[in-house]
Amino acid sequence: MPLIETSLIRALQEARHVVVLTGAGVSAESGVPTFREAQTGLWARYDPDRLATPAAFADDPALVWGWYAWRRKLVRQAMPNPAHVAIRRLAELVPRLTLITQNVDDLHERAGHDSVIHLHGSLMDSRCSVCEAGHEASAEVLLAEPGPVEPPRCRLCAAPVRPGVVWFGEALPAQELAQAFAAAQRCELVLSVGTSGQVYPAAAIPLVAARAGARLVQINPAPTPLDDLAEHSLRGAAGIVLPELLDRLEGLN
Ligand code: OAD
Repeated sequence: MPLIETSLIRALQEARHVVVLTGAGVSAESGVPTFREAQTGLWARYDPDRLATPAAFADDPALVWGWYAWRRKLVRQAMPNPAHVAIRRLAELVPRLTLITQNVDDLHERAGHDSVIHLHGSLMDSRCSVCEAGHEASAEVLLAEPGPVEPPRCRLCAAPVRPGVVWFGEALPAQELAQAFAAAQRCELVLSVGTSGQVYPAAAIPLVAARAGARLVQINPAPTPLDDLAEHSLRGAAGIVLPELLDRLEGLN
């Protein structure tokens, strides 16, 4: 367990607006794989060029749809872990908390957050790849292993339905992006949890906040590009460090 300094507890007690930015690491202890970790990350085992770009979907929609059907099943089976629960506790304690996630799972929502800014979309949503009409999520298949599955067809224009996630080369949803950067400009503290900080524009959120005067705190077992900038870098698993941090904040130990 990394040392949680009293100055960090004080900074959290004083902050009137906290931004929590999460990445795949916050869901790792729920059994949802991260992307860039050497052995276990999705991008170590699967090629993003074949699975996570508009061109990949155009080339082989069944391969892409089946891969997301597998990831959807992983997430449906997963449960929020103590890190998700601790972030929910934090939201009760600070005057204002904006939760921004790069994750496409719904584990923050299932831990009790009703307003999560999803910068990279959601695995649970899907829409027409041409006319963008929404598609009924309950109709989606779930797969125990990745494998080709023909995507359903749009009820309006019959084009293939695609997952509601942001792929490489695509713009992030404009409203979510604007809300996230507005919060970054105004907040007093950013808590960055479980992200490698390599994917922009999400990775710019702590940088923009720091430039506007916010304090930076991060929780990650591995080094990240924020190490030099963060006032506190807690090197450990979010599911262990965050509950301890919240206990300290609530005066429980
Ligand atoms: P990455 O896979 O790049 O990074 C995950 C981070 O979580 C790493 O820095 C790990 O050290 C850290 N980590 C692992 N286990 C942890 C734990 N138990 N507690 C805390 N941290 C832990 O995932 P992201 O930074 O989320 O985009 O990746 C950003 C984006 O890249 C994703 O949203 C996805 C991907 O390509 C799209 O799909 C558009």
